[in-house]
Amino acid sequence: MRWLIPAAGLALAGCTVPSEFLQRMEAQAKYEYYETSEFWADGKAMRTPPEGTVPRERPVGNPGLTTGRVNGTLVSTIPLELNREVLEVGQKKYNIVCSQCHGQLGDGNSVVAENMAMRLPPSLLEIANKPDGHVFVAMTEGYGVMPSFAGELNIQERWAVVAYVRALQRARNTQAGGQPLPQENR
Ligand code: HEC
Repeated sequence: MRWLIPAAGLALAGCTVPSEFLQRMEAQAKYEYYETSEFWADGKAMRTPPEGTVPRERPVGNPGLTTGRVNGTLVSTIPLELNREVLEVGQKKYNIVCSQCHGQLGDGNSVVAENMAMRLPPSLLEIANKPDGHVFVAMTEGYGVMPSFAGELNIQERWAVVAYVRALQRARNTQAGGQPLPQENR
């Protein structure tokens, strides 16, 4: 049995792959950020984008629509024309992306909320007094421990979700006849 141990050691040593095979990407000839280069006349390895270039990720156009803020102030109303179609998009996207945490009714009752150990998803019915831009910015930039959903929802879809959250708030915070529901019954 004693020969087994050195044999096992040899077998393991045989498995070691030389690092030049595993690290080829790491070791290949390439420029690092801000390195100098003899190839370009300006001596820099990094190229300056042509004048007026706009990154694909940066939204262009009406800042209220694309960022939810104008000159640093949250927009107070949804900068889209609202109709049934927009609300239906909002409902669909809310149910897919938000409801598992904030609840199908927006009241914060959800299976995820029941089992979440961290900060619980708040009821969205409580923030009816905040401007529309607040809900848009929360979705776009993330809010506290909540991540951004800009990758899941495009700008139009995010505003549509804001419209649907507003509809949920009106539906849940209002009693028959249009009177606001007293806070304690919400
Ligand atoms: C993974 C669970 C989760 C999902 C999905 C989620 N949220 Fe949240 N949301 C949270 C949590 C948790 C907070 C509170 C974060 C904090 O305070 O740190 C929060 C906070 C918010 C706030 C701020 C509330 C306030 O008090 O001002 C808004 C608005 C909001 N979420 C909207 C949405 C919308 C709209 C969606 C869908 C696009 C969404 N959330 C999806 C968990 C979630």
